[in-house]
Amino acid sequence: MNLLEGKKGIIFGALNDMSIAWKTAETCHRMGADIVLTNAPVAMRMGEIHKLAEQCGNAPVIPADATSVEDLKALFEGAMDHFGGKVDFVLHSIGMSPNVRKGKHYTGLNYNYLEKTLDVSAISLHKTLQTAMELDAISEWGSVVGLSYIAAQRTFPDYGDMADAKSLLESIARSFGYHYGVKNKVRINTISQSPTVTTAGSGVKGFDEFVSYSEAMSPLGNADGQACADYCATLFSDLTRYVTMQNLFHDGGFSHTGVSMEVISKFAKEEGA
Ligand SMILES: NC(=O)c1ccc[n+]([C@@H]2O[C@H](COP(=O)([O-])OP(=O)(O)OC[C@H]3O[C@@H](n4cnc5c(N)ncnc54)[C@H](O)[C@@H]3O)[C@@H](O)[C@H]2O)c1
Repeated sequence: MNLLEGKKGIIFGALNDMSIAWKTAETCHRMGADIVLTNAPVAMRMGEIHKLAEQCGNAPVIPADATSVEDLKALFEGAMDHFGGKVDFVLHSIGMSPNVRKGKHYTGLNYNYLEKTLDVSAISLHKTLQTAMELDAISEWGSVVGLSYIAAQRTFPDYGDMADAKSLLESIARSFGYHYGVKNKVRINTISQSPTVTTAGSGVKGFDEFVSYSEAMSPLGNADGQACADYCATLFSDLTRYVTMQNLFHDGGFSHTGVSMEVISKFAKEEGA
């Protein structure tokens, strides 16, 4: 399927082959896109991204800390050099909370860590968009996608300050989506993805139980990383040109299910026992 033939995109956040960004890069390449890969310089020490680059037609890898405007500027300039023109799509697949990593409870946050959480996981989207706009780096009808989680709308106690980061991420997508739409018809959306087994996902306490709960609550079951990659590809394509400023649930129906028979029957068994 050549849905992305001729498109040029930057993909942030491919750490290893479990990463949603990794699967999205493979999928976009398979669908005909030309890709530039990027990640934080520290994340590249493992060197796995170079394997992905090879698989994606020797895609250039340009390191960038997404909290550094200077790095982002060099990234967009490098990508435009490589493409010989503007960028058609960007995947922002970045998340990290030092509070969650260090097991800090939501009621006992370290505020320096909180600033880092918000900067890495949400404000980096604003920095990416502002840098792109200043360089006029994204083509008309271009598409930018960030990855979110339903903890932005509902409380999941162990998700900690990442919930606040996701709320901010979704808000930035909406607010910048307005301005970039008016200025250059660039669309900006977030995908609110099911819990997915990746390095970032597994950092959340009780993650395995949580994946099982979510699976039991979703009529279609949890959407996996590959399904998320496929959904990203549709948003990068011309088939979704009028979708912008949205938070799009990609979760097998979880977000709109009050309770499932599978979960209810578990309680019935426990009470009957
Ligand atoms: N895994 C899940 O359950 C799940 C569910 C919903 C949403 N998401 C979101 O999907 C996105 C991708 O996460 P993933 O699950 O594929 O995990 P992942 O750990 O594979 O990816 C997270 C990426 O963020 C990168 N990153 C961290 N700090 C950075 C910085 N300063 N600059 C640039 N990059 C930086 C990491 O290097 C890594 O590649 C995240 O936004 C995450 O919150 C994940």
